[in-house]
Amino acid sequence: MSKFKEVADRIKSSSYTVVFTGAGMSAESNIPTFRGRNGLWSKYNPMELATPEAFRRDPYKVWEWYKMRMEIILNAEPHEGYYIISKWEEKGYVKRVITQNVDGLHYRSGSRNILELHGNIFRGRCISCWYKVHFKEAPSEIPPRCPFCNSLIRPDVVWFGEPLDTETISKAYEEAARSDVFIVIGTSGVVYPAAELPIIAKQYGSTIIEINIEETPISVYADYVFRMKASEALSQIDKYID
Ligand code: APR
Ligand code: ZN
Repeated sequence: MSKFKEVADRIKSSSYTVVFTGAGMSAESNIPTFRGRNGLWSKYNPMELATPEAFRRDPYKVWEWYKMRMEIILNAEPHEGYYIISKWEEKGYVKRVITQNVDGLHYRSGSRNILELHGNIFRGRCISCWYKVHFKEAPSEIPPRCPFCNSLIRPDVVWFGEPLDTETISKAYEEAARSDVFIVIGTSGVVYPAAELPIIAKQYGSTIIEINIEETPISVYADYVFRMKASEALSQIDKYID
């Protein structure tokens, strides 16, 4: 029996399938990943752009980079793999999507039970009064200012050295433990605490399915590994999901 059919049968017979995604899930939507060939961190220094210290030092430079990324994402479209995941959610197979991505593509492609571990690039928050703003497009004036207290607005994403939202990560741990199928797509599995989720799922007896074009620390304990692009693997599996 083909591995695709085996995995499709496992998903159909599952009681709680969870999908866990990283930047590789958006690579085929032309949104750059962070690591690997042409990754963002091979061109930019994260310590100058994705830390609270960097923002304190030069908020304009940080916003220039986020504005550029927002524009790339606004011009991007979710690929077929995204729509397969939201269809599996509609059919009741996928109970939760946990993503490290801040691009909002899971929501745009119809998924609704989403946990955004690292925030969302289209949300900003005031550094003083925590007022939240939602950006429909990249802010024209950067750095944007709070309409209430005029302090700086920062991207509402998790930077290096910052804790994740406690409620979000605890919920994600719960979901990983509760899952009986845990599909890991397009993550290098090196950034914690997110990288702990597949390990927790495994410890609680979940079937681990990895979809990634390269080997990762997750591969060694995955029950199924599809060494291929996200949209290809998802559409092959979807052929057997009625
Ligand atoms: N299909 C499947 N996997 C892919 C594809 C693709 N088309 N293209 C790339 N990949 C894989 C790469 O092999 C790599 O393992 O996606 C992974 C991307 O890894 P990273 O760029 O490290 O992204 P991610 O794991 O999401 O990073 C985690 O690090 O910088 C922080 O906050 C940032 O959320 C991010 C976190
Ligand atoms: Zn404010």
